[in-house]
Amino acid sequence: MLKIGLIVGSTRPNRFADIPVKWILDGVAERRNLDVEVLDLRDQDLPFYDEPMSAAYTGGVFSRPEAEAWRHKIGRFDGFIATVAEYNHGPTAVLKNAFDSAAFEWNRKPIGFVGYGGVGGARAIEHLRGVAIELQMAPIKQEVNIAMEPYLGVVQQGRSLNDYPYLVQARDGLFENLAWWGQALKAAREDAATGLAA
Ligand SMILES: Cc1cc2nc3c(=O)[nH]c(=O)nc-3n(C[C@H](O)[C@H](O)[C@H](O)COP(=O)(O)O)c2cc1C
Repeated sequence: MLKIGLIVGSTRPNRFADIPVKWILDGVAERRNLDVEVLDLRDQDLPFYDEPMSAAYTGGVFSRPEAEAWRHKIGRFDGFIATVAEYNHGPTAVLKNAFDSAAFEWNRKPIGFVGYGGVGGARAIEHLRGVAIELQMAPIKQEVNIAMEPYLGVVQQGRSLNDYPYLVQARDGLFENLAWWGQALKAAREDAATGLAA
């Protein structure tokens, strides 16, 4: 069983994010290989990054206790899913800040993205793929893009994300590939830890 952190990437009141979060949790409930825990950035109390030294020079230690708590939490997971709101063609500042507020704990773990917005969050997700690679993560190809039509269908017409079969298919493909990469990388991390990979 892989431990997956579901990072809720926006924090404003009335956020849309809660809809995909529930839909992801509903979908994953049928899977026995993924154990998903919500990491809501509203609850993490992360300061806006203001470290005097980069984690690269501190062995990954942060000076702010909230960031320390966050990075230790991140370290307990085998992989991640992030909900991705697109703000001005990029990711939200809170989500980027959350990535910056841990370092080595992200390494060698997969991440999948569930985006929404005019073009399904695609532009923000592309930014985040580069961020993830810099953090030595494996961003998986399969992503969910909740574009304008389903977004408005849910917000204005009372529809459900399940009313869009292509979204369900994309979500399930994301789960499947997150599990594949998660298992492969977990095994490799364990081999590295025991010296078997040397
Ligand atoms: C500051 C801001 C900037 C936005 N910029 C974009 C954008 O560039 N592209 C887009 O598709 N939607 C954009 N939107 C609309 C968001 O996709 C929409 O409000 C979405 O619900 C935001 O996610 P949230 O509700 O989880 O905060 C923007 C919204 C805000 C608040």
